[in-house]
Amino acid sequence: MSQPILVVGGGQGIGAGIAAAFGERAVVWTRSGGVDATDPASLRRAFDALQAEHGAPFALVHCPGDFAEQPLLETDEATYRAMFASNVDTAFHTIRTVVPAMIAAKRPGRVVLFAAAGVDKNRGMARAPVYFAAKAAVVQLGRALALETAPHGITVNVVAPGLVDHPRSHRESQRRMLPRVPAQRLGTVDDVVAVVRHLLRPESAYLTGQVLTVDGGLQI
Ligand SMILES: NC(=O)c1ccc[n+]([C@@H]2O[C@H](COP(=O)([O-])OP(=O)(O)OC[C@H]3O[C@@H](n4cnc5c(N)ncnc54)[C@H](OP(=O)(O)O)[C@@H]3O)[C@@H](O)[C@H]2O)c1
Repeated sequence: MSQPILVVGGGQGIGAGIAAAFGERAVVWTRSGGVDATDPASLRRAFDALQAEHGAPFALVHCPGDFAEQPLLETDEATYRAMFASNVDTAFHTIRTVVPAMIAAKRPGRVVLFAAAGVDKNRGMARAPVYFAAKAAVVQLGRALALETAPHGITVNVVAPGLVDHPRSHRESQRRMLPRVPAQRLGTVDDVVAVVRHLLRPESAYLTGQVLTVDGGLQI
C-alpha cells in the first residue's frame, strides 16, 4: 500500500464513511480494535507496526470525540474528564505519535481533525458546554499544528460537522435542533466525507489552518 490514510476512529459513523471512501488505502484504528487513543503507549505500538509495514502515512484523520449534552452546572467531574479525554487527549496523543514521522518523511501530508459546528464562533454554546469547550480546544490544537507543519508541506484543517445522521447519532438532540437547519435536513456521512476528500486532494495543498463547517447553514 502506498502512503496510507490513517483513520483513527474509522470503525463507526463518520470515520467509517471516510475509511470506506479511501478503500484499501485506509488504515483504521478503533478502541474496539485494540487501539486506545487516550493511551500514548497503545498508539505507539500501533504506529510502530504501521510504520514497519507501510512507512509514514500521507494523511492522519482523527475522528474520536464522544458527546454529552448537559448544562455546565449539572456536569459532574467524571463526565468533564471523559469529554476532554475523548475529544482532546486523543487528538493530542495521536498528533504527537504520528505527525513527527510524517514530517520526517519529507513528503506532502494532510491532517484532519474533528470539531463541531459553531465552536470557533465568539458566542456561548449552552447545549453541551463541556463537549463544545473540548472541541474549541481541538480547533486551537489544529491551528497551532498548522503553523508548525506548514513549512514541511503538511496541511492541518478542522472539519466541524453540524447534525450528522448515522446509527450512533444523538437522535433526540438532533430532532430538537432540526427546525433550525436552513437546509431543512440532517447532514449525511457522505456530506462530511466529501469535505475530507477535498482536503486530501493534491490541489488542496495551500488550504491549511481552517475550520470547515458542514452544517447545512445552522451556524450562519
Ligand atoms: N455525528 C455528529 O452529528 C457529529 C456532530 C458534530 C461533531 N461530530 C464529531 O465528529 C467526529 C465523528 O463523530 P461520529 O458521530 O462519527 O463518532 P462515533 O460514531 O462515536 O465514532 C467514533 C469512532 O471513534 C472511535 N473511538 C472513540 N474513542 C476512541 C479511542 N479512545 N481510541 C480509539 N478510537 C476511539 C470509535 O471506536 P469504536 O468503533 O471502537 O467504538 C469509533 O470508531 C467526532 O469527533 C464527533 O465529536 C459528530
